[in-house]
Amino acid sequence: MSVYAVVGVQWGDEGKGRCVDTLAANSDAVVRYQGGANAGHTVVVGDEKFVFHLLPSGILYQDKICIIGNGVVVDPEQLFAEIDELAARGKKMSKLIVSNAAHIVMPYHKLLDGLNEAFLSDGQKIGTTGRGIGPCYTDKIQRMGIRAEDLIDPAVLKEKLELNLRLKNEIITKVYGGTAVDFDTLYKQALAWGERLKPMLGDTYEALSELDRNGKNILFEGAQATLLDIDHGTYPFVTSSSTTAGGACTGSGLGPNRIKKVFGVMKAYCTRVGAGPFPTEDFGDDGETLRQTGGEFGATTGRPRRCGWCDLVIADYAAKINGLDGFALTKLDVLTGFDKIKICTAYDVDGKIYTHFPSSVADLSKARPVYEELQGWTEDISTCRSFEELPETAQAYVKYIEEKTGVPIVLIGVGAGRDDTIHRGI
Ligand code: GDP
Ligand code: IMO
Ligand code: MG
Repeated sequence: MSVYAVVGVQWGDEGKGRCVDTLAANSDAVVRYQGGANAGHTVVVGDEKFVFHLLPSGILYQDKICIIGNGVVVDPEQLFAEIDELAARGKKMSKLIVSNAAHIVMPYHKLLDGLNEAFLSDGQKIGTTGRGIGPCYTDKIQRMGIRAEDLIDPAVLKEKLELNLRLKNEIITKVYGGTAVDFDTLYKQALAWGERLKPMLGDTYEALSELDRNGKNILFEGAQATLLDIDHGTYPFVTSSSTTAGGACTGSGLGPNRIKKVFGVMKAYCTRVGAGPFPTEDFGDDGETLRQTGGEFGATTGRPRRCGWCDLVIADYAAKINGLDGFALTKLDVLTGFDKIKICTAYDVDGKIYTHFPSSVADLSKARPVYEELQGWTEDISTCRSFEELPETAQAYVKYIEEKTGVPIVLIGVGAGRDDTIHRGI
């Protein structure tokens, strides 16, 4: 292992957290580079379950360095709540460094996130997580954002907060009819966040560069996924960050040529939370079975996830956009018991067959999946630890994906636990 990036292939919740936790055993550092507390990454160790929103999924190992890079938007309350929860559960954490340059999610971002969703009509609503992600990245791009370093400089914080509230309160009260945010209360609160955050802040690009120079193993942990990427996803039904492998560089400050391999985490079927096109969504019994068997309810919001069959048009797209060296195929165990397993190999858009992903969302919205049907299996596969132990039809499913995409499946998840894994090359 050297410098690896792990990204989501579909619409999130593929099991990135569990894969990162598994791979972190051989890493020296685990790095979040984008997104914020909209992520919900589940890690299961023995009979204990943890859901991380901001903390990198390597945090449970005590001998690693966990980094929250400049590309992440940090909600201090959420970060402290996660740290406190671990402490309350008697868990020691890895060392944590937060980038000075990471932007801070302020309460008005969360407020505006909700107000904006309420403002949109049906059909326009994105179904955000309400974590203030879009408004915070908007401020970053508009060059009005408050960064982590600002929280420890009272004068700069005062100036920036005054400017922000001058504008935000106009929008909150006059456009949305909401209640203005009080400067004094928020300023005091933000200074207190700064006090607590101060020992964690650092030049994370330099820490990473040093780790890399010393030949350490670095693991980038993507949040959200390829189809939620601000550029490459199903715009506008996306999140507001660069979720794909390229984001690992801009969101951390490590150069592109330092990343040696990129792995895409892909669920053995497909899910999506929130609005937007989803060609293989199954509204019938199969979708419901996947939801119940797979426990497909959001780790951040608890919302039922939309479910459907695996989509190789998407897998191929993710392989190209991220330059994937391999897939980690998770939740293969959830497909146990299906007589036949459908897998989408192309889209029919008004009679035209697409084997590549249409970047036009208008076309994508009309896409009807073209399916192949593969044989299912009934055997419990959760105790399998080698590929050969899998039933032949499960092996055939894995090989089919590899053949169609040309990308090897290097890890297979057969359960939620750290060790419920078949390793095939990483
Ligand atoms: P993430 O956001 O990509 O980290 O994924 P989530 O944690 O939101 O959702 C994945 C869910 O599937 C979690 O409940 C995991 O514990 C669970 N999970 C991950 N891999 C497997 C697997 O191989 N089999 C089963 N049965 N569950 C898994
Ligand atoms: P992880 O890292 C699944 C979705 C939301 C919504 C859209 C925009 O756990 O895979 P946002 O709050 O980001 O502005 O919402 O993106 N979304 C996710 N869906 N998993 C996630 O994270 C998600 N983070 C955001 O449901 O459709
Ligand atoms: Mg999740």
